[in-house]
Amino acid sequence: MEKVLRQFFLFLSNNSLLKTLAKRYGFQFGASRFVAGSELSYAAENIRQLNHKGMAVTLDHLGEYVTEEEEARARTYETMKTIKVIDKLGLDSQVSVKMTSMGMDISEKLVMENMRQILEVGKQHQVLVTIDMEDHARCEKTLTIFETLKREYDLLGIVLQSYLYRTVSDLERLEPYQPNVRFVKGAYKESEEVAYPHKTDVDENLKKLIAMHLDNGHFTAIGSHDDAIIEFTKQYVDEHNIPRYQFEFQMLYGMRLELQEKLVNEGYNVRIYVPYGRDWFGYNMRRLAERPANVAFVLKGLFKK
Ligand code: FDA
Repeated sequence: MEKVLRQFFLFLSNNSLLKTLAKRYGFQFGASRFVAGSELSYAAENIRQLNHKGMAVTLDHLGEYVTEEEEARARTYETMKTIKVIDKLGLDSQVSVKMTSMGMDISEKLVMENMRQILEVGKQHQVLVTIDMEDHARCEKTLTIFETLKREYDLLGIVLQSYLYRTVSDLERLEPYQPNVRFVKGAYKESEEVAYPHKTDVDENLKKLIAMHLDNGHFTAIGSHDDAIIEFTKQYVDEHNIPRYQFEFQMLYGMRLELQEKLVNEGYNVRIYVPYGRDWFGYNMRRLAERPANVAFVLKGLFKK
């Protein structure tokens, strides 16, 4: 049953009509459980509260699979504005961006132009920009964009997904860049030809990737709510004398709040991925696919604005 629900929500996450309707009819249907607000000002208030609890943030202006140049430019502008606001308000936050939101599906020239503008502002304000990883069809292009830009800008990180067979060799390929990597399991609907179909393999691969990157001495972000992955990391860093400044746990806004606080109290670095904006539908459906238990929150949200 869980598998069927997962496939159903992943199917919905990609439906453009539903995405458009959701954007038009605004911020509802439980979105506030996982999304910090429709506007930057609301998100900024949420960041302040998280910072106050000892947690850092990475802020994501929601949006993906953009097909109009004008929209990709508007999203670029919004991310640049976000970086400036982070600096102006003295928030402890980075930003995360999706390449399809910056125009990757429109043209290479456009996405590179937009990313260079963002990274220039990131450099001026000393804010790290992390490239989220999207579906497998866009993985190679995303890695190439990262490699090109990383030669020009230092404050750039990337996400790698443990469900893909290719990721161990991708990590080896990126090694010369000494990258700041967020490791996650992967949230898109992928075929068995490119991704491990069984959770145990995805989990084992995630542990392997985390260990490889820590051993190489590079900054490692563990993007997971899974107790087993978190315990593995804690044990691994203890056994290998990895300093705490070399890694952090990252979780999504609204997920496992007690665990977030527990890790902070134990002295670990914790960063929360805070999405905001009106384009919440695809993001929310992927959260439901990961954990159908979250449906309860959404059903409650049906009656709230
Ligand atoms: P998973 O969903 O596999 O759950 C494993 C176990 O953890 C569960 O069985 C349960 O025991 C426990 N658990 C999980 N959630 C729980 C909850 N809410 N309450 C109680 N227990 C819970 N994906 C992607 O493809 N590209 C990207 O760029 C990103 N970026 C990203 C950033 C950050 C900061 C995070 C945390 C995640 C992403 N992801 C992502 C999403 C990621 O790929 C993945 O889909 C989700 O994190 C779910 O996988 P988990 O490792 O969290 O646990």
